[in-house]
Amino acid sequence: QLAQPLMCKCMQRRNRIGVVLDIDGVVKQGKRAIPGAREALIRLREERVPFIFMTNGGGNTEAQKAAELGELLEFEGICSEQMLLSHTPFRPLAERFRQRRVLLVGSAETAQVARSYGFAVGTMAVRSTQIVKGTEDIFPWPRATCDLPAINVNAPGEPPIEAVLIFYEPADWALELQVITDVLAGGHPLGAEGAGAAALQRAEVYSSNSDFLWQAGYPVPRFGNGAFVCALQELWLKRSGSPLQIQEYGKPYAVQFQAARQLLSQVAKSNEFEQIYMIGDNPKADVRGANFAGDPWRSMLVCTGGAGGAAGGSGRPFGGVERRKTKRGGKNMRMFW
Ligand code: G3P
Ligand code: MG
Repeated sequence: QLAQPLMCKCMQRRNRIGVVLDIDGVVKQGKRAIPGAREALIRLREERVPFIFMTNGGGNTEAQKAAELGELLEFEGICSEQMLLSHTPFRPLAERFRQRRVLLVGSAETAQVARSYGFAVGTMAVRSTQIVKGTEDIFPWPRATCDLPAINVNAPGEPPIEAVLIFYEPADWALELQVITDVLAGGHPLGAEGAGAAALQRAEVYSSNSDFLWQAGYPVPRFGNGAFVCALQELWLKRSGSPLQIQEYGKPYAVQFQAARQLLSQVAKSNEFEQIYMIGDNPKADVRGANFAGDPWRSMLVCTGGAGGAAGGSGRPFGGVERRKTKRGGKNMRMFW
């Protein structure tokens, strides 16, 4: 069992320095650990520097992610309290939408994640696959069915879907894009409205990750949730004539950096930091977010990833020596390789 508070040695001591580590492209790439990452964590623990992980990834619970990462890095004691996933700040939305129906978008495990946040999955928080299962012909192509109950959104008395919560990029873009745009359009049958320049957007949209590309196992960065949102924005604009109104979470947005600081303070049992180092591989998410967050945040760019532009992608290991400073990305940014 990794989630033992006593094993989080970093939690036991105050420190005026805190470290926030990105995951993909910094400590792991795809299914393999990045050389040097484990040693870096050991060093942080030895020095009793409080640290947490902040990733724009997600798709599973904080506890699962902590356990998986601990196993991959062969580093015991990473606990869920040290894990900020892209959708972790969605947790309070469960209360806000307790009595209102929402659409959950994400991977197969998203139902489990949303349930852990307190959403009433299957009834008030529904998946597109439930709608396709229960609403005749809404999506004309055959798809595998789902275990959750079927929902006919056009049946009398069905509550309107008031928000779309994009937890994670879905595997089946075509199905999700069709159902989401129908929800945004509204009307009866669902999707009947929403054509024309004056079209209203009938549901709020929340997205947890704006990464267009990210460093997965393949040597070339892969499309991320930001690419899915981009496709949704284009489709909605073309269909309705109006830009999509969207509330963004995840790095580089302030909401995520505030959540990270809060988590780090809990781990450190102190809110007094002289510096908080954000160590990332993505200039657009990790570096930009930390630089905009201001003091005490400092950004450090490693070149093991490559998701955000030319600064990454060298394949060199984390933990290298600082060899130069650059103004790129702001006064706080340093490059390591
Ligand atoms: O989906 C994962 C991704 O967009 C980036 O993850 O850990 O580099 O923030 P990370
Ligand atoms: Mg990264």
